[in-house]
Amino acid sequence: MTSTRGGLGDELVDIATRLAREAGDMALAGRKRGLNEVSTKTSRTDMVTEYDKASESLIFAGLRTLRPLDSIVGEEGASHVGSNDITWFIDPIDGTSNFLYDIPMWAVSIGARENGEAIAGAVYIAAAGEMFAATRGGGARLNDSPIGCNLDARLDTALIATGFSYAPESRPVQARRVANMIGHIRDIRRFGAAAVDMCYVACGRLDGYFEENLHEWDIAAGDLIAREAGCLTGDFRGGPIRPVETMTASPAIFEALGRLIVESTVADQQ
Ligand code: IPD
Ligand code: CA
Ligand code: CA
Repeated sequence: MTSTRGGLGDELVDIATRLAREAGDMALAGRKRGLNEVSTKTSRTDMVTEYDKASESLIFAGLRTLRPLDSIVGEEGASHVGSNDITWFIDPIDGTSNFLYDIPMWAVSIGARENGEAIAGAVYIAAAGEMFAATRGGGARLNDSPIGCNLDARLDTALIATGFSYAPESRPVQARRVANMIGHIRDIRRFGAAAVDMCYVACGRLDGYFEENLHEWDIAAGDLIAREAGCLTGDFRGGPIRPVETMTASPAIFEALGRLIVESTVADQQ
């Protein structure tokens, strides 16, 4: 894997961090003033606010100006088909339910891929003033200090985060899996922002995280940040990470956590 230090990766991460900070601070200031436009998307609990849209517009405009040849995919519909190998994935507010309830656990997530391979990413938790960022081969940082995952984690004392799908029919299955797992680990967290969960594993605030049915914009930045911090990422059975099946963990528990997730699911179906 080639390091991108001093090259394209650094240019892209500078842009990602700048735009994530600008969009996150704008949304935070707006949330303090109050929300006026709140509506639903894929289900009665999948929400969008005026700040999801405003954040995406700000980032989209910035990318179009600074990187006019790149492609862009945004959760709220921003889309541009470019003419080079770079594609940006924007989650303008990851953790919209938290944002709606004024719980500070939400972030702006911006990830860039080159020919499908992650090259730069930024996740900005505006309410905490925390900027997670990484470039391919250049390591991961929190507010400019290098971060690393918990290398000495053990499954039976692991703190694991997960999430539950917006699709009502998937949620009982996912909850029963967690019920089957919880006696075998330290505890479960459900923070409500996938990108934050991945960054928390990256900096050792969690030992692992798994979730199903995400989208590319949820994981594009967080996956790179986690891997650059020494985490392993993949699906539950040792395959490559996919939005439909995402796991991020310390290498010390990665395989065992995958086995536990699979066994807990099977146990529920018997
Ligand atoms: C959601 C959050 C949540 C996860 C959902 C995501 P959104 O993103 O990351 O933690 O459980 O699956 O869709 O909708 O707030 O951008
Ligand atoms: Ca999201
Ligand atoms: Ca979102």
